[in-house]
Amino acid sequence: MTEQAPAAYAGPERVLSGVQPTGDLHLGNYLGALVKFARLQHEIPTFIFVADMHAITVWQEPAKLKQQVREIAAAYLATGLDPKVATIFAQSAVPEHAELAWVFNCVARLGWLDRMTQFKDKAGKHKERESIGLYTYPVLQAADILVYKATKVPVGDDQKQHLELTRDIAQKFNNDFGAPGFFPLPEALTQGPGARVMSLRDGTAKMSKSDPSDNSRINLTDDADAIAQKIRKARTDPDPLPETAEGLEGRAEARNLVAIYAALSGATEAAVLAEYAGQGFGVFKPKLADLAVSVMGPIGGEMRRLLADPAEIDRVLADGAGRARALAAPTVAEVKKLVGYWAG
Ligand code: TRP
Repeated sequence: MTEQAPAAYAGPERVLSGVQPTGDLHLGNYLGALVKFARLQHEIPTFIFVADMHAITVWQEPAKLKQQVREIAAAYLATGLDPKVATIFAQSAVPEHAELAWVFNCVARLGWLDRMTQFKDKAGKHKERESIGLYTYPVLQAADILVYKATKVPVGDDQKQHLELTRDIAQKFNNDFGAPGFFPLPEALTQGPGARVMSLRDGTAKMSKSDPSDNSRINLTDDADAIAQKIRKARTDPDPLPETAEGLEGRAEARNLVAIYAALSGATEAAVLAEYAGQGFGVFKPKLADLAVSVMGPIGGEMRRLLADPAEIDRVLADGAGRARALAAPTVAEVKKLVGYWAG
């Protein structure tokens, strides 16, 4: 007898992603995540949240956390997320995330979490001193995604492993509770231009908010002068730009600036090289600076405008939380029944 394949998920496609409110956003976040959110919202129902529950897995100053949430929300709005199209909210405003996370803590296995490289990187040598929340962080992430039965998750490469874990949890839940196809097995969307923006000071390191050098990144809130100056100071090599991408081999900094130019202008790297082949960075950098200022300058301006009067942001987040809960609550109600909870 052949075994029957478990029923596949048959629900609608949904996009979900989130950003932690733990530091300034930069060009890497913009090209790697925010532009994708803004594009996807017009293709598939899109849910984008601020991960304040994840933020407190490491210490956050309570008096600052709300403002940090507003800053991420301002970045979402300033980079083109439309609150009438996408659902934008703070994670802690939707208690269903935490409720589902508890059930998933009982589905996920210790062995699965022991393999998570992000925990190992963050905890370093002294994991016994980290919060249990930091360890179980990817389980909450699975709940973020599956509470909306999201199928597509735009994230950086570093999140691929958390998405694999999310699929493992979904599959085990579906099996254990006799609910084939209840949760989808969501897919990470990691490709595309700007997927990997590198530091302006070291072309082999990712652009990162934790890099001690502010010159290594362009922050979303940098003004035109700061943007232009950071590009002027960016590390490069003395050679002119090559005619083809193969010529960038072994030139990490040059490749990064070409990739940034391509992503910001919407052109391919080949087209950028076709235009600038044979030119040195004395010519290319001012062009890149102009382009970056024209794209990033208005984003910073809009963020400052929104943050000057947070009432608008707070309204967007309140409205988004209501819509998010309306979708999350029935999922959690069904989960409680499947698990056999007293309150199910
Ligand atoms: N862990 C993600 C990051 O650091 C943030 C995040 C939390 C997230 N929950 C999520 C991303 C759910 C996508 C889906 O980038």
